[in-house]
Amino acid sequence: MNPGPLLISGDREPVPGRATDVRGLLMDHFLYRDGRLFAEDVPVAEIAASVGTPVYVYSAATLLRHYGLFDDALAGMPHTVCFAMKSLSNVAVLKLLGDAGAGMDVVSGGEYRRARAAGVPGDRIVFSGVGKTREEMRLALEGGIKQFNVESEPEMIALDEVARAMGKVAPITVRVNPDVDAKTHAKIATGKSENKFGIPISRARDVYRLAAGLRGLKVMGIDVHIGSQLTDLAPFEAAYRKVADLTLALRADGHEITRLDLGGGLGIPYVRSNEAPPLPSEYGEMIRRTVGHLGCEIEIEPGRLISGNSGIMLSRVIYVKSGEGRDFLILDGAMNDLIRPAMYDAHHDIIPVIEPHAGAPVQPFDIVGPVCETGDTFARARNMPLLAEGDLVAFRSAGAYGAVMASEYNSRPLIPEVLVKGDQFAVIRARPTFDEMISRDTMPEWL
Ligand code: LLP
Repeated sequence: MNPGPLLISGDREPVPGRATDVRGLLMDHFLYRDGRLFAEDVPVAEIAASVGTPVYVYSAATLLRHYGLFDDALAGMPHTVCFAMKSLSNVAVLKLLGDAGAGMDVVSGGEYRRARAAGVPGDRIVFSGVGKTREEMRLALEGGIKQFNVESEPEMIALDEVARAMGKVAPITVRVNPDVDAKTHAKIATGKSENKFGIPISRARDVYRLAAGLRGLKVMGIDVHIGSQLTDLAPFEAAYRKVADLTLALRADGHEITRLDLGGGLGIPYVRSNEAPPLPSEYGEMIRRTVGHLGCEIEIEPGRLISGNSGIMLSRVIYVKSGEGRDFLILDGAMNDLIRPAMYDAHHDIIPVIEPHAGAPVQPFDIVGPVCETGDTFARARNMPLLAEGDLVAFRSAGAYGAVMASEYNSRPLIPEVLVKGDQFAVIRARPTFDEMISRDTMPEWL
């Protein structure tokens, strides 16, 4: 069945207020009402006026709804939904999700600290990443951790040493690389044997034997993550079947395998006209089918599907410029604020904050930022209504890998973030002042 516009942000909804789709599920909450774009019950133009642009705006209801879809999808199996906070790591967002019961997938000491600052207990945090340092291991062992997803033998040996030195036992899974093609952008595919992630599944039994001999470690299960923005369940299914076989093989070798961390990666519909990717419920069914019989606790690490369509980036038109054979919309947002188009040629729908009238003329624009690089281009020849200086636009599906990948390139102050809940909004990360930005640099005495 076509899941329709369920996860799509900014969809037009003829009836003001919260929409329901054919399955009776809530869509997200960036909708036009009376010709103006709202985030939940707040006109986004109000946020732009009060906080300035560019700015990220997140919808609490959408975040919670998307988290809930995964939680529901795994109902009946013991499970933890660990939000991949690399996709959106603002502490207020983490608290919102953590209070709803989410665990966190962290990949650095910084993320671990953010998760704890948001009140997420250690026993709901899994620690992923190919290069955990001993310092990061100590931090997590001290503060509490559900498990480390270990990615290599040297890391395993280091973790064993760190844990024993602290008089602790570190719970682990081993991340296996199942050698499946995730069929996604090459920069975000992780499950092929040539990628740097995990240990080859063919060597897994040897590596588990090594782990079982290390007193500082306790083997809990298996971890796998094959890539991001997957829009087909088949590669997941191929990987999870390999994990199911490995579970049986490892149990036969005498290991207790009680947890399976199945990673993240379920994609979202960035282009509205494309067929929507599988729903979390369909993903959950496939998990049940492939590994449900093993009696393991299921952990998943979705990032993008929870945060992606829960956020927009608001930006203002600085100039409309006529070039040779093309016209440019020059925005105040740039590649340093949202790098996905420059980095992955990613598509983001860009919509005007004032809804165009039906039949309003459109024309193709190259939509660019002010940064001094040709790569600072959000879209080429994108049909847009005729916008003017000062008009606001919203980048849809910008909640994931947006703010977290922002920088101050060209000395543009780090973009702020706003969280909306119903008719309230709050700045959850303020734009630094120029003084704050500059005063982080320090002068050597000898200069
Ligand atoms: N677990 C692990 C171990 C990961 O490496 C990732 C993402 C996730 C979970 C979450 O994947 P998700 O559900 O969000 O697809 N910056 C890129 C995406 C990089 C993804 C890295 N790892 C982008 O903007 O598309």
